[in-house]
Amino acid sequence: MAMVSMRQLLDEAAAGGYGVGAFNVNNMEQIQAIMEAARETSSPVIIQASRGARSYTNDRFLYHLMEAAVELYPEIPVALHQDHGNSPATCISAIEQGFTSVMMDGSLLDDGKTPADFAYNIQVTREVVEHAHAVGVTVEGELGTLGGIEDGVGSGEIHLTDPDQAVEFVEQTGIDALAVAIGTSHGAYKFSRKPDGKVLAMNLIQEIHEKLPTTHLVMHGSSSVPKELIDIINEYGGEIRPTWGVPVEEIQLGIRHGVRKINVDTDSRLAITGAIRKAMAEDPGEFDPRSYLKPARAAMQQVIAQRMTQFGQAGHAGDYEPRSLTEMRDFYAGATA
Ligand code: G3H
Ligand code: 13P
Ligand code: ZN
Repeated sequence: MAMVSMRQLLDEAAAGGYGVGAFNVNNMEQIQAIMEAARETSSPVIIQASRGARSYTNDRFLYHLMEAAVELYPEIPVALHQDHGNSPATCISAIEQGFTSVMMDGSLLDDGKTPADFAYNIQVTREVVEHAHAVGVTVEGELGTLGGIEDGVGSGEIHLTDPDQAVEFVEQTGIDALAVAIGTSHGAYKFSRKPDGKVLAMNLIQEIHEKLPTTHLVMHGSSSVPKELIDIINEYGGEIRPTWGVPVEEIQLGIRHGVRKINVDTDSRLAITGAIRKAMAEDPGEFDPRSYLKPARAAMQQVIAQRMTQFGQAGHAGDYEPRSLTEMRDFYAGATA
């Protein structure tokens, strides 16, 4: 099976009422962990690479690892997505490299830090949509900026998504999926206690979904940061401070209100780091990298398989025939004709 369009995965998820995890990768072991978890749970998957991941791997290594993944797991529909593209040029280069989906994050300027204005966001996102849809590639946009309501991390400025502006943004850009800012942030330190409605604005998801029932909503910063994974890291010499992530039941609530893509990176990082620390501490004389990379891969597989089940994508890998990007191109051309 070739890599498939993310739009198709999300349309199917909407029809089936489930969410699809979008898991970040930087190396072969992470791709293997996700594909094994997908096979174990029979899940369609979104694999995503940040700009940092693309430069760490080099695009060609990444693309060929992904080609190996689709060859070795022919029963699994896989979309390859650019996470947080900072400019049209980044998104266009991802498309040229074979990505089937891109995020144009025009909520920030191209430094990836400074909050951008609405007009800029519309302009760069529309430019990417025109380019991407002409070749059948999916586009995710973002409105509002991430960062905890509580402690102001992320861009440093928190702008929750305004539901009325979201309607205008989707109309003006023609995006397939909309990332919304509801108080989450990237990384391990999201909340200092279990989040409630004061710091995690799940009500916004419901409001936006009511106004935009056919737009696929995306939750970023959605690792749950399980205490068990932090405990393993700290038991073996790590120093992760007490922290809270996004509870799975809040994500499940989001899925009932239009969330179709859930971004998870930190939980994989925690699982891998804990397993490596443990393996090294338990056998200090060992120096074969496989002795710690194998348990690291297995630990990531375990957490990903758990999320696939919790998000509801498990069991849906074989539901549909993947459409080619050429078919998707014709679909977009028909939609705008
Ligand atoms: O967007 C955040 C993801 O966790 C990727 O992080 O830029 O360190 O690869 P990264
Ligand atoms: P986490 O840091 O919560 O895993 O979020 C990842 C993310 O949103 C990637 O775009
Ligand atoms: Zn993100």
